[in-house]
Amino acid sequence: MTDGLQFLILHSQHSSLVIEFSPSQAPLWRYWGKHLSYWDPLSMQTRRAARAPKSTGLDFDQPLATCTGHGMGWFSSPGVVVHRAGLDAFVQFTQARVVHDTADNSLRFDLIDEITQIEVQQTIRLDAASDVLTMRNVLINRDALADAPPLDVLWLAAATLPLDARCTTVQSYKGQWANEFIAHQDNLSQGTWRRDSRRGRNGHEQFPGSVVLTPGADLHHGLAYGAHLAWSGNHTQLIERLPDGDLQWQMGEWLAPGEVRLLAGEQLVSPEVVAVCSPLGLNGVAQAFHAAARGRVQWPGGAMRPRPVHLNTWEAIYFDHRPEVLMELARQAAAVGVERFVLDDGWFPARTHDRAGLGDWWPDPQKYPQGLAPLAAEVERLGMEFALWVEPEMVNPDSELYRQHPDWALQIAGRPLQTGRNQLVLDMGRDDVQNYLFDKLDALLKSVPIRYLKWDMNRDLSAAVQGGGTGLHRRTGRAAYHANSLALYALLARVRMAHPHVEIESCASGGARIDMGILPYVHRYWASDTNDALLRINVQRGFTQFLPPELMGAHVGPVPAHTTGRTQALPFRAAVALQGHFGLEFDLRQLSAGEKTELAAWIALYKSLRSVLHQGRTWQGECGDSMVWQAYASALPATTATALPIVSQHVDRCIVLVYRTQPTVHTFSPALRLPMLSAGATYRVKRIDPQSADSFHHSHSARVFDQMDAGELTCSGEWLIEAGLPLPRMKAEQAMVLELTLAASSMYR
Ligand code: GLA
Repeated sequence: MTDGLQFLILHSQHSSLVIEFSPSQAPLWRYWGKHLSYWDPLSMQTRRAARAPKSTGLDFDQPLATCTGHGMGWFSSPGVVVHRAGLDAFVQFTQARVVHDTADNSLRFDLIDEITQIEVQQTIRLDAASDVLTMRNVLINRDALADAPPLDVLWLAAATLPLDARCTTVQSYKGQWANEFIAHQDNLSQGTWRRDSRRGRNGHEQFPGSVVLTPGADLHHGLAYGAHLAWSGNHTQLIERLPDGDLQWQMGEWLAPGEVRLLAGEQLVSPEVVAVCSPLGLNGVAQAFHAAARGRVQWPGGAMRPRPVHLNTWEAIYFDHRPEVLMELARQAAAVGVERFVLDDGWFPARTHDRAGLGDWWPDPQKYPQGLAPLAAEVERLGMEFALWVEPEMVNPDSELYRQHPDWALQIAGRPLQTGRNQLVLDMGRDDVQNYLFDKLDALLKSVPIRYLKWDMNRDLSAAVQGGGTGLHRRTGRAAYHANSLALYALLARVRMAHPHVEIESCASGGARIDMGILPYVHRYWASDTNDALLRINVQRGFTQFLPPELMGAHVGPVPAHTTGRTQALPFRAAVALQGHFGLEFDLRQLSAGEKTELAAWIALYKSLRSVLHQGRTWQGECGDSMVWQAYASALPATTATALPIVSQHVDRCIVLVYRTQPTVHTFSPALRLPMLSAGATYRVKRIDPQSADSFHHSHSARVFDQMDAGELTCSGEWLIEAGLPLPRMKAEQAMVLELTLAASSMYR
């Protein structure tokens, strides 16, 4: 091709992308969509050839580039916005180099603007097996002049992705404390759709990721796109209609004014964007995201151990810590099958309420005169792991730490201290703060056999400036969100390096810090502070759109639920907790002997199923009439993953959790259609939850349900896909657990 022009194409199992490259400009997006089977440069050139400039516009075409600058003919939102003391704001890349690593299925671009001396290094990688597209931009200030002002960075998109005009709907996830991950759909009309977080964390309000749908796309079918910013701080997502009718999708870190100023030779590394294009609807997108997440987790010992059943003390005892009560709780927990005992908030000095103590990370000598060792020893003697809650980034004004180091809290001199849950955020970028926190955590982890930390973060950042500023002449210091996020990662990395056997849970008043950026350091997320099972179904379905079930803390809570006042029966609460990493969070001492036996049976069921529920494939579905389901099957063997045709996902054994959320409006339940089954196979269907047949409103004349209970029902995969499995009448807030196993297969064996 002339002028060094070339088409770069990356394929994965279900998707392809095409980029047009020439050495004198930023690379141009030509395609990101369904898998293309043929390598056909002539067809690809039609995109370029069809774009003659119109007479009323600039005399050249300006298609969407992988990185756009401001002011040189790109009139839509730029991917880079910078200036040097008001100069050098007009950016246009004039040199481009590419390295196409075919073995890695990745592209690396070096883009240079010779006029402004700005460089952007881009990496784009498409994982062939999972369809996961990862992108990142690094911005470098190449200005070598000694007296040049620093480069102020206002915006650096971590990725700019192309969406074609067929994309009509964006589904994003917003929420509240104790009600996270509410899916919200907006039409992509003209103009810009935008979501930000300026809270120093993603917050409950705005998950940093969305899904884009084309008409007809649903949970199981149709072309759908997803993108997620792997970052735990501020963020922006925007989708903008371009003049040609297509759309651009940008994601990146939201930067406060003056927050990033690069000196000569310095660089800003963007977070990574994890994206996917799938022809298999929302479930296809979710499965790719799960693969991306799994690739980031660093398990102690190199591989995930079966996810242990938790007992978390928070909703059981809150701040009322008494070692003898806790030991009794531990004994009762072990007796029903709990494997990890998590001592939540309240164990350190002055922590009898949430107004004092944060920062003083040693055991309260009044509550624990002999320290935590006796409790930890009893927990271990009972065969469980001991785990501890901490909130390292925070300090209460009423604490030893704050009295000694009031300047360690983020604040603006001359302005009032802004507390949230009575606490302040530490200036994590300071070495002395980092060292103090590391030393305290290190001492705790060395003094007691702690196998797991629940790492909490219970407020938004507000007056987030480094060094406090002088408060004089309105100088308030440099914004510290970016620095605090990086410093959090650094502290987590240091703790993990020193204590590699310790697992960590990411919690932020429930689900205010759930993202893949923190994932290399953590092993579980606390999805929400609500243990109301009905609300949890929705929270957990939103969570699993992006992250896999084994990373999702899901607890059987107390009744009535402390966050909503609603009461659900134990089987329903347990069946909802089965969707994730199972745990308990209530005072077991309140249960009758019969209830304990019932609970133990659900825990035994979880243990028997967790090898299928975790690290495999999962699908969400809806039956209609307020019935929803979640299905799980083991991962495909690596050899079949790429060899099978797209339509078949080859399911041998499948666990299906079925929930009725509201009373029925019909005489009979709707059928359970399972589109992901193998059509040519025959399945044996068995209800395997520990509920008696009488729990469901089915009489003995409904023979099919007796057969289902006995594991004697068989159906063809095709029938289950198209006609569906009949379900018994279920009460509102009732669940059942089904197991489908391969009885015979005509297609694959
Ligand atoms: C947050 C967490 C809860 C609990 C409390 C303790 O709200 O989300 O699970 O740990 O803090 O204060």
